[in-house]
Amino acid sequence: MLNFSRTRTQPRSTRSMSLGGMDYVEPKKKSNFVGKLFLAAALTALCILMLKQSPTFNSTSKFSHHEPGVTHVLVTGGAGYIGSHAALRLLKDSYRVTVVDNLSRGNLGAIKILQELFPEPGRLQFIYADLGDLKAVNKIFSENAFDAVMHFAAVAYVGESTLDPLKVSRIPFEIVTGLLHRKPIDLVRLRIKARPSAEADAFSKHIRDIHDHVQRKITINNESYKGIITILHQIPVVVLEAMAAHGVKTLIYSSTCATYGEPEKMPITEKTAQLPINPYGKAKKMAEDIILDFHKNSDMAVMILRYFNVIGSDPEGRLGEAPRPELREHGRISGACFDAARGIIPGLKVRGTDYKTSDGTCIRDYIDVTDLVDAHVKALEKAKARQVGIYNVGTGKGRSVKEFVEACKKATGVNIKVEFLPRRPGDYAEVFSDPS
Ligand SMILES: NC(=O)c1ccc[n+]([C@@H]2O[C@H](COP(=O)([O-])OP(=O)(O)OC[C@H]3O[C@@H](n4cnc5c(N)ncnc54)[C@H](O)[C@@H]3O)[C@@H](O)[C@H]2O)c1
Repeated sequence: MLNFSRTRTQPRSTRSMSLGGMDYVEPKKKSNFVGKLFLAAALTALCILMLKQSPTFNSTSKFSHHEPGVTHVLVTGGAGYIGSHAALRLLKDSYRVTVVDNLSRGNLGAIKILQELFPEPGRLQFIYADLGDLKAVNKIFSENAFDAVMHFAAVAYVGESTLDPLKVSRIPFEIVTGLLHRKPIDLVRLRIKARPSAEADAFSKHIRDIHDHVQRKITINNESYKGIITILHQIPVVVLEAMAAHGVKTLIYSSTCATYGEPEKMPITEKTAQLPINPYGKAKKMAEDIILDFHKNSDMAVMILRYFNVIGSDPEGRLGEAPRPELREHGRISGACFDAARGIIPGLKVRGTDYKTSDGTCIRDYIDVTDLVDAHVKALEKAKARQVGIYNVGTGKGRSVKEFVEACKKATGVNIKVEFLPRRPGDYAEVFSDPS
């Protein structure tokens, strides 16, 4: 069951009106002052007792205090594909989990399933909030005692990031990315280190104004600004700032092999130069830079995991990759292949058959989502104060899109209709990892 009453972003007055299922009853008026005082004291004591016994109070208090032996992890983007699998794994391993998601892409069904599996007080809470909203994020951090953050929230589709900003909104896109590109370190210094100066304030305000402007445009459904928000949402400045302000000690950050671009030499190691070729990869690289700059003056334990292509789902079939229908067009080959097999889409579109690879289609390294979340839990366990760990997460084996499609046909027994189309902008020919 979804318990929105646990949502700490709601005003307090809306949370405590009902005590253990009973509504508050106004006491009868009495003229005797001492009697009134006695009644007030008795009612207060009763309220405290009932509040303490109410499951809502208990669960809330568990999330708001550190408890010896219990690690409380904030999973941002936990309603999404990878975040929901990570939350499941953490809960199975007895972690306390808070999911924050704005449901822009995520699936509320995943949260419902997690809450059905772990209904006990103090195990899981879901907070509906946008991580770009400074006020909401600060409220969340001041009302909850997190030990670590796994930051999955992002706009995570290469195709979408490439099409929108470059085709539709070139000028504002360049203003924003230009500013962030030129000044990522300053931006962090200004917002996190808060060195007070008129110039600092002006620059910080300028960035915030652009962000707000973009947000407003998004709200009135101006498609052309989606690309900019794609970039801004990758930047974890607001979350980093809140972590620093509230003493949260560990960050596990979701990055991507897209930050490497198209290296000449395979396999890709962590030492391979990062030369991203699409806005998605560039934004993630920027985010990494900001985290690393921030870390130079911080005691935080940081793990940056650069994933390759993530596939698969919970082996018990409770969770999976379920993007919204409007995002399927930008989706990944894995999701599209199975959608075609299930008849959700009429066929599969394979974009690009003239890459310099063995069969002309792109080669990718496909990592199972359960292995990926295993890497997250290991990273969390191994993270050390004042240190940064950067790891590629892949299998070390490259498979072509054609090979993937054949495997999908074999696994599903469906003869999927495949249409071969020209290349998609922003795609590179071949990437696979060195997992050693
Ligand atoms: N799926 C892959 O193959 C892959 C590969 C490399 C890296 N990654 C990274 O892994 C992370 C998770 O990817 P995914 O495939 O699960 O994506 P997803 O779209 O399924 O999940 C992202 C979640 O973040 C939420 N979100 C987005 N912006 C938000 C905001 N401003 N505030 C609150 N919530 C917000 C969405 O609603 C969604 O639930 C992303 O950072 C992505 O870049 C994914």
